[in-house]
Order: sequence, then C-alpha cells, then structure tokens
Amino acid sequence: MEEVEKVTGRYEALYQESIQNPVEFWGRASNTVHWKRCWDRVLDDAEPPFYRWFPGGMLNTCYNALDRHVEAGDGDRTALIYDSPVTGTVRKYTYRALLDQVARCAGGLRRLGVQKGDRVVIYMPMIPETVVAMLACARIGAIHSVVFGGFAAPELASRINDAMPRLVLSASCGIEVNRIVPYKPLLDRALELSDARVEHCIICQRPQLEAELIDGRDLDWSVLTTAPPAPCTMVASTDPLYILYTSGTTGKPKGVVRDNGGHLVALLWSMRYLYGMEPGEVFWAASDVGWVVGHSYIVYGPLSYGCGTVLYEGKPVGTPDAGAFWRVISEHRVRVLFTAPTAFRSIKREDPEGRCIEKYNLSHFRMLFLAGERCDPDTLLWAREHLGVPVIDHWWQTETGWAIGGNPAGVELLPVKPGSCTKPMPGYDIRVMDEGGSELPREQTGNIVVRLPLPPGCLTTLWNNNRDFLETYLEAFPNYYVTGDAGYIDRDGYLWIMSRTDDIINTAGHRLSTGAIEEVISSHPDVAECAVTGVKDEIKGEIPLGFIVLKAGVRRDPSGILREIVQMVRDRIGPIASFKVACVVRRLPKTRSGKILRGTMKRIADGDSWGIPPTIEDPAVLEEIQGALSELGYPKKTRPP
Ligand code: COA
Ligand code: AMP
Repeated sequence: MEEVEKVTGRYEALYQESIQNPVEFWGRASNTVHWKRCWDRVLDDAEPPFYRWFPGGMLNTCYNALDRHVEAGDGDRTALIYDSPVTGTVRKYTYRALLDQVARCAGGLRRLGVQKGDRVVIYMPMIPETVVAMLACARIGAIHSVVFGGFAAPELASRINDAMPRLVLSASCGIEVNRIVPYKPLLDRALELSDARVEHCIICQRPQLEAELIDGRDLDWSVLTTAPPAPCTMVASTDPLYILYTSGTTGKPKGVVRDNGGHLVALLWSMRYLYGMEPGEVFWAASDVGWVVGHSYIVYGPLSYGCGTVLYEGKPVGTPDAGAFWRVISEHRVRVLFTAPTAFRSIKREDPEGRCIEKYNLSHFRMLFLAGERCDPDTLLWAREHLGVPVIDHWWQTETGWAIGGNPAGVELLPVKPGSCTKPMPGYDIRVMDEGGSELPREQTGNIVVRLPLPPGCLTTLWNNNRDFLETYLEAFPNYYVTGDAGYIDRDGYLWIMSRTDDIINTAGHRLSTGAIEEVISSHPDVAECAVTGVKDEIKGEIPLGFIVLKAGVRRDPSGILREIVQMVRDRIGPIASFKVACVVRRLPKTRSGKILRGTMKRIADGDSWGIPPTIEDPAVLEEIQGALSELGYPKKTRPP
C-alpha cells in the first residue's frame, strides 16, 4: 500500500488540472484534431444539464481518420488489418487504399440520395466493408447506427423504428465458428416488423452464402464501390456522428448520441495517454464493431491517431486452438490488445498452463487492457503471469464512449491493484453517493456518479429523446450523471466497480437487460409471472436465469414450455442473450409490499451467504426456489474465480 500512496506524479497533476480547469485542459487536447474551422469556445455550459463541447468548430471525422494521414505522406502505412480465421483470410489496407474505398462508398451513398443528417443503419458482420461503410457515413455527415449481428429481427426492427434510416446496409451472412448466420431473412423480417420507410437495403454478398435480393428495394454492394469518390462534408463539432443503441432497463433500447468534435478529442487523448500508443503501431480491440468498443477502438481511435487496427472475425479459442489471439498479436506486431475478461477466461479454460503462448514471438507486445465487465483478479493475474506484460482493467460504458477509470499508461503506469479499475480519467469527477444523494466517504459502497459536465466524448443525449436522457441519467442526483454502477473509492483513490444498480447484467462482456428478457417470457401464453436474474458463470461472468410461474390450470409438460421460452428469447432478442437456463416455480419470493426478491434468488443460485429478508411475505417460497435451483445444479460446483 505504501508504494501506492507515494504516487503523486504526472497523472495527479494532469487529472487535477482537468477537473479544476477543463477549458484549458481540453482546449489544449483539441490541438490534435484537424479543424476546418476552429471552435469559438471549448465548452458551452449555457443550458445545463446539456453541455456542448467545442461549439463553432467545423471538422470531418473521416478526414481526421484517413485523408489527413494520406496528405501528410503516410498513405502507404497500414491502416486496417482484416484477419478472419473463420474464412481463412488475412487482408491489409493502407491508409490510401482505405481512403479510396471509403470515398467511393461515400459517393455511392450520395448517389442514393443520402444527405448530411440522414441516418444509415449498418447491420453487418466483422468485414472490412462494415468499417468502410461507417467511415463513408462520417465522410458525408450521415449518422450511422451499427446494430450488432447477434441481435434478432425484433431488436433490429426497434432500432430501425427509432433511427428512421434512409438506407440499411447489410450482408448476406455472418460466420460463427460452428455455423453460417444468414442475415438477410433477419433483415427482411425486421423491415416487416418496422414502420420505417427504408428506401433501399444494400447487401454485401459473401461467397459463403448468397442472399436473394428483393427487386427494387435491395441493391448489390457494387453500387457503393463503383461511384465517383465523394469529398468530405464539414460538420459542426456538435453534430451527431453516430447513434449506438444499448440496453436499458426495459425492452426499449436507448440510442446513445455521439458528437463529432468532443468524441475525436477524447479518443485521441486516450490513444496516447491511456493506451500509450504511438502512430504507426498496431492496436487491436478484440471486440465487435456493433459495440462501443468497436466504434471507439477498432475504427475511430486507432485510425485518427494513425495506427494500424485489427479487424478480427473469429473467437479467442477454437480457431484453430487456444493460441488464436497469440497468432494475431505475433503476426501483426500488435502492441496493445484490448478485450473483455471473458475472452481470457475462455482461453484459460482451454490452455490453463498457457502452453499455446510459448509457440509465438510476443516480444513486441506491450500491454493488455480489459473492460466490459468486472475483471476477477485471478483472470488478471493469470494473463499477467503468462504474457509477462502489464494487464490493466479499465471501466467504461457505451454512454461514455471511452474510459471513465483506468491506468494512464501513456502518462505513467500506476501500481495495479487487481480487482480495481485504478483512477478516474481526466474530466471525470467521480463521487459515491447513498440513495438520498449524500456523498459517502472513501471505502463505502454506493451509487457511482460523475459530476457534470461530463468530459468530451460522452453522450450528448438519447436520439430524439431528451426526456429519457434526463430521466435515466440526470434527475436522480441533480448536477451528477448516474453511471448505474455501484462501487467505492478506496483510500488511495482507486475505483472499485462492483455491480450494477439496475436490471442490467453483463454476459460475456455484452450488456443485457433482464427486463427485456422478462418481457419476452411474459408474452408466452402459459406464463403468469416471471423474474430473470444474472447468475455467475465460469466463462461468461454472468448469465441470465429465469424463474417462471405458470398460469393456474396449465397442464402441459413444463420442460416443453421452457424449451419454447428459450427459443422465443433467442428469436426475439437474439443468441447473444445466452438465455438457456430457466425453471418453473409455483411462486416468486416477494416482499410484503409485493416487490420480487431478485437479489435473493441470485444469491441462492450463486451460493453466496444469504439470509431471509425480514420483510419477506412467505419464507417457504425460498425453499422451493432452492430446490428448483439445486435440480439445475446451482450453486455450481466449479466456482468462478
Ligand atoms: N452474429 C450471430 N450470432 C452471434 C454473434 C454474431 N455476430 N456473436 C455471437 N453470436 C452467438 C454465438 O454464436 C452464440 O450462439 P450459441 O448460443 O448458438 O452458441 C451466442 O450468440 C452467444 O455468444 P457469446 O456470448 O459471444 O458466446 P460464445 O460462446 O459464442 O463466445 C466468448 C464466448 C467469450 C468467446 C466471446 O463472447 C468473446 O470472444 N468475447 C470477448 C470479446 C468481446 O466481444 N467483448 C465485447 C465487448 S469488449
Ligand atoms: P457497455 O455499455 O456494454 O460497455 O457496458 C457498460 C457496463 O459494463 C458498465 O456500466 C459496467 O457495469 C460494466 N463494466 C464495463 N467495464 C467494466 C470494468 N472494467 N469493471 C466492472 N464493470 C465494468
């Protein structure tokens, strides 16, 4: 601990300046961006709680990501490395080649009538065309909304309904290790379910599966490769770059809106000072472009900073073995890898001694960053021991777009405390509050909130929904943003993120709403009532588990009903929900006021010590829950670390 307390170096000075003088701090940081017209002010705080970064500034995010590197003479530098073990492909694009494709794609979008401010939904797998499409939208000032490929048709439909895009860009299929996922039937179904008037769907045909195109509506991807290149459209710093939907506590996803200027300033700061990268080096975020990590650190961060970025289509294990990640790091000279702890848990299970690591030369590999879910100390220590590099857990959310807490490797590497996310990043003034809004002292767990204004890069609102933005994030604690996470700050100022305060769970680093799963289950005709809670899982960290009460008089075999329910969740939310375990019970445990005791059911399933809450309506219900869980094998014998 002594070692930790001594740290009052460069990070501390930088952080303090960012809180006490954000205008000076971010104004200086904004010099890394190419502005067509410089901003008038760093921060517009005239209408709190809405804040705007760099108003008056004009820029283009695609220009910053591609053109400026080519103009600076770095056109032959590697920009994108597409590595796809599932198709046996490795393909590299220089900055010049990527710019050429993006400019043509932008020209194609233009020819189809897409204007600045129009929305374009991108429902595509991890292929270069997806990155090209995102950058092409940015180039002409269109607002993209990427929808992760593991979502089912109704989820895609609800996003289309909210974003009201002019076009949807998609592909014939995605490729999972064990199967081909046809995207087109999902897209067709989503459009049937949606009220939006989409003019065209542009389909990238992959050789693994050809999709049938609907005459008039669907167009082949070649319309985006054969058009004359389009120049960059300058947009305001505060104009939206993209909308990214994320799970809320209900079935309705929230459309996080990201601006152009603040976003770029924050990402460029983070590439240098958080991840410690240099232009020309290779950065790899092993995530998916459908998630925020993919937006920020597969596409916009590394490219704007002049790095090479890896687009990996595959899994951490099984393609071909538990050495899949080490092959990519060694072959492409990756300096920094960023992924979710779940990926490392799956590698550790297949190769506990780390033997596959020894087969590769990882001498140039510098650091591993983990995020997306709480990182158990065992996983962090295993990675550190076997890779021989610092392993950094850092904490962020779709809403913030970049890390709230982390270890600023490019400033100074602070001592690592496994289980903690180190310290707040610049601009994040973090406090811990009790339910009544009183600030808690160090070491005490409570709601983690951030004092307004949030730093550049964070959400500016929810798409077309200022009301929900205020209600969800800003009203509970006036003048603070509610992260939805609970945790504490220790005596050394380190952040410990322990759990969510709402009905969101993290499965394999993916964010899921248990409320959304409950909505699907409740729509089954035989279901009277249900509750879904997250329980520990050895690989995925947490998985959803359903407790289901059937309607009186239902005589069908419960196992048949459960199978139907599992399939319904897969069809309506998607395979990504990982909803496979559920049990039928006669009643749900409730407090006397009728509140379902989800936390108690979770604790029984997790095998954590628990007591019957004094307010419970009928303690006998818990015995039934316990019995049902033990039939399912809970608590599991193999405990996650
Ligand atoms: N399209 C269609 N289906 C998809 C999909 C996609 N893009 N991505 C995942 N799925 C499917 C999977 O095939 C799986 O289907 P199944 O139930 O038939 O097996 C299901 O959705 C659940 O996927 P996932 O939770 O990812 O489990 P998995 O067993 O396929 O892989 C990991 C587990 C840990 C290997 C994987 O989640 C991983 O690599 N995660 C780490 C990186 C990451 O993406 N982090 C996110 C934020 S940083
Ligand atoms: P998402 O918006 O999908 O990125 O999920 C964000 C949520 O994931 C956060 O609010 C946290 O609950 C959780 N999370 C992300 N990173 C971490 C981390 N390093 N430690 C603990 N929880 C994390």
